[in-house]
Amino acid sequence: MDFEFKALSAGGLAAVQADALLVVVGGTAVPRGLDKPFAALLGDAVTQGDFEFKANRCLYLHRPAGVTATRLVFVAAADASAKAFKAALAAGLAALKTAGAAELAVARVGFDDALGETHARALVAAAGDALYIYRHTKPSAPAAPRLSKFALWGPATLRAALTKGLQRGQAIASGVRLARECANRPGNHATPSHLASEAKKMGKEFGFKVEVFDRKEIEKIGMGSFLAVAQGSDEPPRFIVMRYEGAAATKAPIVLVGKGITFDSGGISLKPGGEMDEMKFDMGGAASVLGTMRAIAELKPKINVIGLIVSCENMPSGRAVKPGDVVTSLSGQTIEILNTDAEGRLILCDALTYAERFKPAAVVDIATLTGACVVALGHHHSGLFTADDKLAAQLLEASRNAQDPVWRMPLDDEYDEGLKSNFADMANIGSRAGGAITAAMFLKRFTAKYPWAHLDIAGTAWKSGAAKGATGRPVPLLTQFILSRV
Ligand code: BES
Ligand code: MN
Ligand code: ZN
Repeated sequence: MDFEFKALSAGGLAAVQADALLVVVGGTAVPRGLDKPFAALLGDAVTQGDFEFKANRCLYLHRPAGVTATRLVFVAAADASAKAFKAALAAGLAALKTAGAAELAVARVGFDDALGETHARALVAAAGDALYIYRHTKPSAPAAPRLSKFALWGPATLRAALTKGLQRGQAIASGVRLARECANRPGNHATPSHLASEAKKMGKEFGFKVEVFDRKEIEKIGMGSFLAVAQGSDEPPRFIVMRYEGAAATKAPIVLVGKGITFDSGGISLKPGGEMDEMKFDMGGAASVLGTMRAIAELKPKINVIGLIVSCENMPSGRAVKPGDVVTSLSGQTIEILNTDAEGRLILCDALTYAERFKPAAVVDIATLTGACVVALGHHHSGLFTADDKLAAQLLEASRNAQDPVWRMPLDDEYDEGLKSNFADMANIGSRAGGAITAAMFLKRFTAKYPWAHLDIAGTAWKSGAAKGATGRPVPLLTQFILSRV
């Protein structure tokens, strides 16, 4: 995909050359000042009952009179926001998906506020969403739409802002794409070793360091909690360390930690069979770390970023960890494993301890951690957990900016109560009530040495049902957050 800004000339929209022209319109009537042929076409469509100024309504016109572009689509936007712009674009792109157009021009009319950087990013994101097709294990998937070149048209004064938005947007979109592709691949393809080779490949391509540790080396590091989860599977675990060095070595890095359970059967505490296939998406956190590292490596900000991925399968077997087993984490704290299905926190805690050695400015872990988070927030907001108000504010701001919603959840000490164990320093599960919070409280016990936030993406990393597939979230949020910290 290719995006560029183009300055509108005196000829206005009528002079725009493209296979297709998508015009996002605001307001409740044909905008005043809309170029003549366009105003006539739109006005007539309204009179004929073919178009209404209601959010995301579309009108497709082929070879309209007086218009240079071969195809013209009008689509109504709810308001001037980037969010409404993106929704309108999604609707417009859907109308053009099966068209023969390869080049698309996009413009917006009928709003007082000018387009901004976030609108430009929204265009790239909408195009990325519309054009992504999973085909790695489905060669019969429909051919990709021909659309591949996009131009965002606006007044010349917006060139700098919109060009920057398109550029950032493209890096984020390739990160999102990588995360989706990785997470969509089934468990027998996207193994821990596969994630490691993806990381290595990316490191080579973009010139950042990647280290991969195998089971023996993970033992040597002392990640007893991580290994307890890994021991039930014949698939070898991997611990992946990626280092993007954009600033002086003395500058404290941001560390991202991704949960990479490539299949979560629950282990001995086996999950019920329904929808268990979706537990291949339990490496969504890891996928988002890969995607974010890619976006960052492409944008080259002056900051240091470490990406950690802790990856294995959670399987039942004669060697699998059992309820009641006590393991020693890298931190030295012992853990009584009361439920082997609460495995995410068991692998993350060791990676969080490992993160200490980087003396991080901040650590953010990303995990499809709890079904309880889905109950609490549904599929729109990811859960944000942190005791650090400053870090919370930065992540919330990045989330708004990137249109990748998160909602802050409580993390008071009272929720730690349930993690008590008679046989270890802590149990791996607390009360069922507030399960997303008790999971976060468990992680918190390993993060005393640095500012830390946890993102529970159980409800947002993938979609179920007919549109089943990975979303690539929260790559936009993470990338925006890192850029905001430069
Ligand atoms: N990967 C799951 C969480 C999950 C479940 C995400 C459903 C998305 C949809 C996690 O490892 C898990 O199994 N968590 C348990 C924790 C419980 C045993 C305390 C859960 O949420 O049921
Ligand atoms: Mn589980
Ligand atoms: Zn899991």
